Amino acid sequence: MASNGSFSAADEFERSSTWHVEVIVGRRGERQVLDDLLSEAADGSGGVVVLRGEAGIGKTALLEYATDQAGRLGMRMPSTAGVQAEVHVPYAGPHRLLRTAPELSRAAKSVLDAPDTLPYRAAAALLGLLSESAAGTALVLAVEDAHWLDAASCDALTFVARPPA
Ligand SMILES: Nc1ncnc2c1ncn2[C@@H]1O[C@H](COP(=O)(O)OP(=O)(O)O)[C@@H](O)[C@H]1O
Ligand SMILES: [Mg+2]
Repeated sequence: MASNGSFSAADEFERSSTWHVEVIVGRRGERQVLDDLLSEAADGSGGVVVLRGEAGIGKTALLEYATDQAGRLGMRMPSTAGVQAEVHVPYAGPHRLLRTAPELSRAAKSVLDAPDTLPYRAAAALLGLLSESAAGTALVLAVEDAHWLDAASCDALTFVARPPA
């Protein structure tokens, strides 16, 4: 995330003119990047945006903005998160996704839950599950605090986020 963090009078105007900017002050460049990602997803092309920055700078706030925008566009945006206490628990990230988005939980859950799951099978199962769930519509996956993802989750989510062949 690139920004000097300062808020201008124009930002204040925007803040009072729409619902969203009552929550997000400024960050117009970052919001545009997220809006573009959602538009591209709605048009059928995939992409990845990584929000980086120190604690408290507004990454979660921007993710909430994107989630809200996705809802306005009629897109679903399930989410998961990396959690420090789970950093050594394989597939904790996809597991959290399936717990918090039960509509996504189908066959892949048993694959991810199996202790001897091969990394490729887990990644492919997650991709299959998300593709099936999207059913031809746009689906955006939000990952909070990705730096706390366990290595297996990171691999599986990176696999899911790869560009189509
Ligand atoms: N651009 C912004 N406009 C309004 N509030 C913001 C903005 N950026 C951050 N905040 C607020 O500052 C606090 C910390 O932001 P947060 O998104 O949790 O940071 P991070 O996820 O990077 O640690 C939250 O209360 C959040 O709502
Ligand atoms: Mg945060």
